[in-house]
Amino acid sequence: MEKIIINTPGFRSEILVGERWEALSGLLPEKGVVIITDDNVNQLYGSRFPKLPVLSLSPGEGSKKLEVIEYLAEQLLKAGIDRSGFILAIGGGVVCDIAGFLAAVYMRGIRCGYISSTLLSQVDASTGGKNGVNLGGTKNILGTIRQPEFVICDPEMLQTLPEQEYLSGLAELIKTAVIGDKELFEHIESSFDEIMARKSDLLTLLVAKSVRFKGLVVTEDEKEKGLRRILNFGHTFGHAVELQKAVKHGFAVASGIELATEFSFEKRYISLEEKERIISLLDRFNLIDRLDISNDQMAKLVRHDKKKTGTDIHFVFTQGIGKAISEKVPVDDVLGFYKRFRDKK
Ligand SMILES: NC(=O)c1ccc[n+]([C@@H]2O[C@H](COP(=O)([O-])OP(=O)(O)OC[C@H]3O[C@@H](n4cnc5c(N)ncnc54)[C@H](O)[C@@H]3O)[C@@H](O)[C@H]2O)c1
Repeated sequence: MEKIIINTPGFRSEILVGERWEALSGLLPEKGVVIITDDNVNQLYGSRFPKLPVLSLSPGEGSKKLEVIEYLAEQLLKAGIDRSGFILAIGGGVVCDIAGFLAAVYMRGIRCGYISSTLLSQVDASTGGKNGVNLGGTKNILGTIRQPEFVICDPEMLQTLPEQEYLSGLAELIKTAVIGDKELFEHIESSFDEIMARKSDLLTLLVAKSVRFKGLVVTEDEKEKGLRRILNFGHTFGHAVELQKAVKHGFAVASGIELATEFSFEKRYISLEEKERIISLLDRFNLIDRLDISNDQMAKLVRHDKKKTGTDIHFVFTQGIGKAISEKVPVDDVLGFYKRFRDKK
């Protein structure tokens, strides 16, 4: 088991990678704990949950909305949860985003911890304290940054994940490798069969590397004023793909990584060889969704991005495997690149 500590101003969060998910002793208060999960996770693991009240949500992105926060807050009130209460989220990125947001706003903030049950949430969503819900067609537009007290990442939980969910998580793992850890990239490149076989020891190692890198970034820049922006690599185009095609987050991000990598190559930030290595790794895991989005549609979607300020956007480029930079770029330049990229196809 690897314990990774994330220290942010006035707060200490522990990420326990390779820990058994049921090993909760000492982590929860004696009373006032409520579990938030979703119906799939509840069905698979609910019989082994600690004997505590459970609020189970409909699985999927559709639950990330204010009505659900309102419903859950009503249930907490009914259960008599006060300021000393504790929310234990057991689930993937959706459950953790909802539970984290609720914990941040209920009675102006109560304690929370996560048992992170998907690869995507283990390598990315549950570390760093971002949470939130969607509003209409805009993703994560209402949210806060608030660290959970602990996150447990148990590789055994990943054994029950449907294949598409597992692959979706791999895209975020590859993203982390491209922006910050060349050794992780090489490890993924050389371990295709073991990754597909979901070998627990290997998963613990890869998740820990990813969390360690994200932890360093978040420790330095919790509120995303600078360095943390690099974690959005692939997300400008990725969010557009996700909204337009309703594909899973990781697949959308993989398409976004392909585009951001091509844009980095066009700007001569990376060599042809590196560009090909990145795209062929994504292709090996069959992650890139190559269905087309028109230039006009892409323009609408990118102009909606919350990383946009005025006519500019913070766009993340790779500067070689293991290195990334966020630059303020005119939205028109981003869209100009997209048009050139489509015309070449
Ligand atoms: N807060 C952040 O920093 C951050 C970062 C990246 C992504 N996200 C968010 O994360 C969300 C996506 O997360 P996700 O991919 O984990 O989706 P998810 O939470 O919807 O989980 C995917 C599916 O897997 C099921 N599932 C969960 N654990 C399982 C298990 N152990 N076995 C079998 N099935 C299981 C769920 O019921 C669901 O159907 C998006 O909303 C995205 O915006 C947040």
